[in-house]
Amino acid sequence: MFKKREFLTTPMFGSSVKVMLLGGGELGKEVAIEAQRLGVEVVVVDRYDWAPAMHVAHRRYIIDMLNPNAVKALVEREKPDVIIPEVEAISYEALEELESKGFFVVPNARAVKIAMNRIELRMFAAEQVGLPTTKYAFALNSDEAVEACDKVGYPCLIKPEMSSSGHGHVKILESNPNNIKKAYEYAVSHARGKSRRVIIEEFVDLETEFTVLTYRYVSDKGVETESCEPVEHWRYGRYHYIESWQPSTKSSAILEKAREIGIRIVNALGGLGIFGVEVFLTKDGRVLFSEVAPRPHDTGMVTMASQELSEFAIHVRAVLGLPIPKPRLLSSAASIAIYTDKENLWAPRIKGVYEAMNIEGVDLRVFGKPYTYRDRRMAVILARGGTVEEALNKARRAASYIVIE
Ligand SMILES: Nc1ncnc2c1ncn2[C@@H]1O[C@H](COP(=O)(O)OP(=O)(O)O)[C@@H](O)[C@H]1O
Ligand SMILES: [Mg+2]
Repeated sequence: MFKKREFLTTPMFGSSVKVMLLGGGELGKEVAIEAQRLGVEVVVVDRYDWAPAMHVAHRRYIIDMLNPNAVKALVEREKPDVIIPEVEAISYEALEELESKGFFVVPNARAVKIAMNRIELRMFAAEQVGLPTTKYAFALNSDEAVEACDKVGYPCLIKPEMSSSGHGHVKILESNPNNIKKAYEYAVSHARGKSRRVIIEEFVDLETEFTVLTYRYVSDKGVETESCEPVEHWRYGRYHYIESWQPSTKSSAILEKAREIGIRIVNALGGLGIFGVEVFLTKDGRVLFSEVAPRPHDTGMVTMASQELSEFAIHVRAVLGLPIPKPRLLSSAASIAIYTDKENLWAPRIKGVYEAMNIEGVDLRVFGKPYTYRDRRMAVILARGGTVEEALNKARRAASYIVIE
């Protein structure tokens, strides 16, 4: 049902090939750039003006993407060939209806729906696909939460059914009903939407984390699924990723297990495009599926330095029906995300760029976000090296020069 693309053309004229990005953050910006390079017309939608991808788009729109009528009205006006969701906070109802009318939603509306919902995703991955995961239980109210925590054991994590960037996650250290009830209320009050459901997960001791970038594309033989060398990353106990690197330094047996998890979940979700499959390696040696994003992944920004085709180039080729001969790993590389702790600085200055970029093999992406808020990611350092260690050291040195003010 997915066809090879026969031609590309000129944007802004009658027969242009058009993509619409729903969400225009830093990952969307790189997707937009890759689409621009192929002469594709790029329309970017977000909830605020001058989001990163809007700077490299032909047109931009500012709407509430959780409002189904707003999303549908825009799509009907623009009639894009491909709709690329870049964030989770999009009306699923709109995507499903648009898909049923014949619009192509990446990777497909069902996959978007499953992946944005921790409960649906966990049931799908563990119970349907049969992947290994952390122990888990679900709860609908605070009494059930107490029971579920006891069942899963301690320490455990309460997470709202829908949220991103660690919003509403609470770690529970011991069986204490009052604390658990408070934690449950905190979790649901930080959820996206009105759901009162939560997942309770066994809190595992992490040895490391992987993102297996796995993609489905149209080959000569039909749709094929492939994965990149796993990206390894570390968060230093924070919810946001800080450092990522490629290739991983873990054993090939472990990496094979991680890749198999990637291929299995992505094949079950279907469609076209790249997926960031998050996999845990625990201190006791378990390789566990954690979650999947049906889109490029922030930790995958390192592929802009390491791979022949970045995760963004792969995504664009895949969703357009273009071929993807397996991209080579060109170099060991590392990325470090630069966050700000400043509130409400408009057009902030990114200082230290001369010193950072003066290091051989170091590159920088400045996202161009119009204003800051605490913990907002503003830029990323990319570094190549002869080894991962060398790349990481260069990236750390470069990051130490950067100041946002
Ligand atoms: N069950 C768990 N045990 C240990 N650490 C976890 C667990 N779940 C999440 N984490 C940590 O929190 C991070 C964010 O959790 P995740 O479920 O991926 O949420 P998000 O949707 O915000 O990315 C993970 O990358 C990992 O570092
Ligand atoms: Mg995650």
